[in-house]
Amino acid sequence: NSLKAAFEGEFTIGAALNGRQAMGQDADAIPVITQHFNSLTAENIMKWGPIHPEPDKYNFEPADALVALSEQHGMELIGHTLVWHNQTPDWVFENGKGKPASKAQLLQRMEGHIRTVAGRYKGKVHGWDVVNEALNDDGTLRQSKWLTIAGEEFLEKAYRLANEVDPEAELYYNDYNMWKPAKRDGAIRLVRNLQEKGIRVDGIGMQGHWGLENPSIAQIEESIIAFSKLGKVMITELDIDVLPNPSNRNGADIDATFEFDEQYNVYTNGLPDSVQQKLAQRYADIFALFRKHSDKISRVTFWGVSDANSWLNDWPIKGRTSYPLLFDRNYQPKPALEAVLQPV
Ligand code: XIL
Repeated sequence: NSLKAAFEGEFTIGAALNGRQAMGQDADAIPVITQHFNSLTAENIMKWGPIHPEPDKYNFEPADALVALSEQHGMELIGHTLVWHNQTPDWVFENGKGKPASKAQLLQRMEGHIRTVAGRYKGKVHGWDVVNEALNDDGTLRQSKWLTIAGEEFLEKAYRLANEVDPEAELYYNDYNMWKPAKRDGAIRLVRNLQEKGIRVDGIGMQGHWGLENPSIAQIEESIIAFSKLGKVMITELDIDVLPNPSNRNGADIDATFEFDEQYNVYTNGLPDSVQQKLAQRYADIFALFRKHSDKISRVTFWGVSDANSWLNDWPIKGRTSYPLLFDRNYQPKPALEAVLQPV
């Protein structure tokens, strides 16, 4: 009666933990984590901003605690993430005199960061999201400061360094909207280019920030199959948003019989039963697909343990009450958990 047991021999089941959970300060979370998951990811505490806030200042304590937790319970640990355009302090991209950093300066900082962080956790991290979200939805490279200052070389350099520093760790490319055909093609180009230069990229993470209706199972399946030709495929950051995206309200699926507060983007009477059932069915369909392709998928990671910890309570607008995960705000199983464990 646990997720990890249900998918034993197929893929590992992961959860992203926040800082409190990593430090063992969320007592209610621990039993759920140990019962259901055998893979852990740092939701924030290994990102550049939290772990390396100033040039000579590192804050390792929360990440060290997560490493210890994963070791204590024999779980694999996923490092997230070394190179990203978000949650990276401004100083990284500046020269200290209010001007942009030079290419050499930026690449040197990246090198120092990767050597220090990946070096500290060498032999303890099962795999690293080396580069996160380097692509636009049309498959072209995102015009991040990494790209505009350092050029495409930053990609190559990041993977070469990660490989040098921790040769045993798997190295991944991770991004969202990977079911979109143009982005799928872009990710394949990006990873294949690196691999053709002899650079090790072991797998691709498809972030699963999906909705009740979209993407379709067929769209997800196409990407799983396409990515599997390049290496391992992981479903990372899985959460199913049942709320309409306020910036994209057209066609939103709101249950009209319950009060939905448009301003705050919450169901004022709690999640309607009909939506709860839809969420369960959606999770059942998605996991049926993952099972069908368990020869290609090595891991499925949820972006949070319970609805109480989900980033979707604050995104895309603050103050939502979101219901994207398998455990409710009191860490109790939702119908969606049953649907995944015992598909009907
Ligand atoms: C999110 C975290 O969940 C939030 O707590 C944080 O405020 C912002 O970042 N894609 C990623 C993740 O790769 O790192 C993001 O995590 C969600 C989107």
